Amino acid sequence: MSKKKLIGILTAGGDSPGLNAAIRGVGKAAITFHGMDIIGFKDGFRGIVENRQMRLDKKTLANILTVGGTILGTSRDKLHRMEVDGETRDVTDIIARNYEKLGLECLVCLGGGGTQKNALRLVKKGLNIITLPKTIDNDVAFTDATFGFATALDIATEAIDRLHSTAHSHHRIIVAEIMGHRAGWLTLGAGLAGGADVILIPEIPYDIKKIAAAIRRRSHHRTNFSIVAVAEGAMSQQDAPAFRAAEELKSKARTEKEQLAARQHSAALDEKHAGNTMRLARDLEELTGLESRVTILGYVQRGGTPSAADRLLATRLGTACADLIQQKKFGVMVASKGDGVEPVEIAKVAGKRKPVPLDHPWVQSARRIGTCLGD
Ligand code: F6P
Repeated sequence: MSKKKLIGILTAGGDSPGLNAAIRGVGKAAITFHGMDIIGFKDGFRGIVENRQMRLDKKTLANILTVGGTILGTSRDKLHRMEVDGETRDVTDIIARNYEKLGLECLVCLGGGGTQKNALRLVKKGLNIITLPKTIDNDVAFTDATFGFATALDIATEAIDRLHSTAHSHHRIIVAEIMGHRAGWLTLGAGLAGGADVILIPEIPYDIKKIAAAIRRRSHHRTNFSIVAVAEGAMSQQDAPAFRAAEELKSKARTEKEQLAARQHSAALDEKHAGNTMRLARDLEELTGLESRVTILGYVQRGGTPSAADRLLATRLGTACADLIQQKKFGVMVASKGDGVEPVEIAKVAGKRKPVPLDHPWVQSARRIGTCLGD
């Protein structure tokens, strides 16, 4: 009798709704349709380094479709510098050894941009890897969508809906901070769907005077309240060149020393930028004479039950992943393309981001309906 294939699966990076639906999709298709066995590693890549795992069978995969977070746990570890036993080290070889010892046919990694980079290191070591794109930020390259985004979009939109009535009643500006350090998909999508008056995203640096003028114009028309949807990573036109330079420094850094310096520089910049939303609200209050308030949506956007759209996407990508394992098509990310999927080389995806294009239809629609984008 031939031995069953054994698959490993892990979830890495920030959690997002739909992770359990994806684990279930891969697991059920692998066990039921392809007759494979599957184990899950706990807390991201750390689980395979420390050999912490759990058997995923029909029972453990039951009743998780609607559950938020990840039953496996997650972490933001990087393979080339993971803290293990008080020491920072490259754990790629440890993972390769444990993969061999366990006799895995394939390791499935569910994650965003950082996970694709980690996965590429393992592909280069000769391991059979398949990734699935997840993040509420929707910024993984070469896929139409990432699971988690649709749910977060619903949550952020509902928040903007609710903020409208209180802003209107008190004649205030309400600045709603939405997640997205480097990409504005969530803010733009929720801002459009929720009818925000101003939408600020990292891809379009803003001029505060133009935002204040737009808000004042509304007041002239006797609409003396405004909703400003601002991405965590939105920045002013004055600050933008420093961020661009820091990105360039990171992309050009070759040696370890250069990479460390670039990371430190970028972290210092991020630290300086923290609190930007509060400063924005205060400045708008000063410039418009309207009272302003801030609402930071934070982790509410990442928690809880996945939406129907995310359950569908995660299940679609998960089951396609099991098929690809059966076909021995490794080294790929299962991208979503229209109603179908497309395997894309991890080497092509890793290190790339998908920012909002400046001519994207959502940007054009926002401009057509008179939304201020701060530029
Ligand atoms: O999941 C992506 C993301 O939500 C970003 O938008 C956000 O900036 C970041 O994760 C924060 O997550 P954490 O605090 O878990 O690192």
